[in-house]
Amino acid sequence: MSELLSVKIAKAAPAGATAVAEAVYSDRLTKVPGVRKAALDRGGFAGGVGETLMLNDGERVRVLMGLGPRARVGATELRTAAAVFARGVGKHRRVAVEYPEDLDLDAAIGVRAVTEGLILGAYRFDTHKSSTTPGLSAATIAVGDAVRSVQPAAARGRAAAEAVCFARDLVNEPGGSLTPAVFARRAADRAGSAGLIAEIMDHDDIVAAGLGGLLAVNQGSVEPARLLKLTYEPVAASDELVDGGAAEPDAVDTVALVGKGITFDSGGLSIKPADSMMDMKCDMGGAAAVVAAMCALPALDVAVKVVSFTPMTDNMTGGAAQRPGDIYTARNGTTVEVLNTDAEGRLVLADALSLAADEEPDAIIDLATLTGACMVALGQKIAGLMGNDPDFCGIVEDAAEVAGERVWQLPLPADYRRSLDSAVADLKNIGAGRYGGALTAGLFLKEFVDDDTPWVHLDIAGPAFLSEADGDSPKGGTGFGVRTLLTLLETWGEEMELLGELDDLEEEFGLS
Ligand code: BES
Ligand code: MN
Ligand code: ZN
Repeated sequence: MSELLSVKIAKAAPAGATAVAEAVYSDRLTKVPGVRKAALDRGGFAGGVGETLMLNDGERVRVLMGLGPRARVGATELRTAAAVFARGVGKHRRVAVEYPEDLDLDAAIGVRAVTEGLILGAYRFDTHKSSTTPGLSAATIAVGDAVRSVQPAAARGRAAAEAVCFARDLVNEPGGSLTPAVFARRAADRAGSAGLIAEIMDHDDIVAAGLGGLLAVNQGSVEPARLLKLTYEPVAASDELVDGGAAEPDAVDTVALVGKGITFDSGGLSIKPADSMMDMKCDMGGAAAVVAAMCALPALDVAVKVVSFTPMTDNMTGGAAQRPGDIYTARNGTTVEVLNTDAEGRLVLADALSLAADEEPDAIIDLATLTGACMVALGQKIAGLMGNDPDFCGIVEDAAEVAGERVWQLPLPADYRRSLDSAVADLKNIGAGRYGGALTAGLFLKEFVDDDTPWVHLDIAGPAFLSEADGDSPKGGTGFGVRTLLTLLETWGEEMELLGELDDLEEEFGLS
């Protein structure tokens, strides 16, 4: 990993910036100062989001940064444009962005998005390169007189982007070096420094806790499994005196996060073909997003309690590996017939979900690179979203949209559950036939979640790892999910209050 880009807020672009980006709207192409429309046409520049055009203007390069039509510019467009600019800026080490002052958008929201975009675009994974050319090292966002008012938003953008980059670093690290023990230690150390409580369960703890699914997957490996639990407690709300009496602190909600941490997925004895195995270091992308988001909660001063459970193991083919047909007992007592050892994610998640349930959380979210079937359905750029509570699904969808991460809801059809019936155990780990694999995986997880606890499952198999850079994401690990989680947790009170009011209304009108 390289140093995080330093992003500063200033009134104007500093003298040292050798490239300065300025916003151009696709419906204002004739209004670019000093540049004729014909010149833009010749450069193939139409002002769309993610398009840039370098104009050589003496000592300092002017970079036109397309934002699409002015009326439709929001955080996502700004973040993407800034990221593409930062990624494509070539040899320049110090750059600036002129923040557009004519937008119908809260400047704090816009500046946060630009901050995130610059850092995300400048990200590089060069840990294992013996030599690297120096990249972008500093960027300034020129905001005119708004300097003081947007400073806190920029700081939040920095914290969020830093978390995304941490998740990317974890995902990009090969399975041979990011073993479960190394993953757990690295995440726990960082969480500890951030002020969270970190507890690592080692092999003996995992046996004692009866995490049968995690142990079953781990059987084929020489690397012992881990389960990392992180706890974030918000700083107690100010002790307001109620009626002159003692302060009665408002009970805060608890959210539980769960992430799939398969540090390498060979498929086990149901081994993958070579081509499908190539990128399988990414199979801990869910756990990476969860632990990285957790580490940013203190900096973002999140007001809700958050607990995370990330099971970590690789899925290998050693002599002790589980065989197709083997049956194990999950933590909650369910027996599972493992007919395909490559459907391993759901086994480790099931145990983590049952641990999460013990915290009696107000909601559970899991993130997992769970199925190739989800990629068949939605492609590489969009995550599948499933859940047991339509209102909560909507809340997570809204958070993803604000965060600029694409998700699409898939159903969990009750009648499909039958395809998981086993002749010899309580459940089998794959459905019948090859269709609807994302849904049967979701239905398997649902068995380990309490029906009364709002739960969302994000299948991030596609967007966790890209074969080429796209928008704010580089090639390789993307850190997908971090921003959705942070947005959701930062706004938790507001959204959940609405949900509560909705439930009350539904009850009042006999709709629940
Ligand atoms: N880790 C894979 C899913 C995956 C595929 C993630 C491609 C990222 C990119 C998962 O463990 C898996 O192998 N799933 C199987 C399930 C099947 C055996 C029911 C799949 O999708 O083929
Ligand atoms: Mn697998
Ligand atoms: Zn997997």
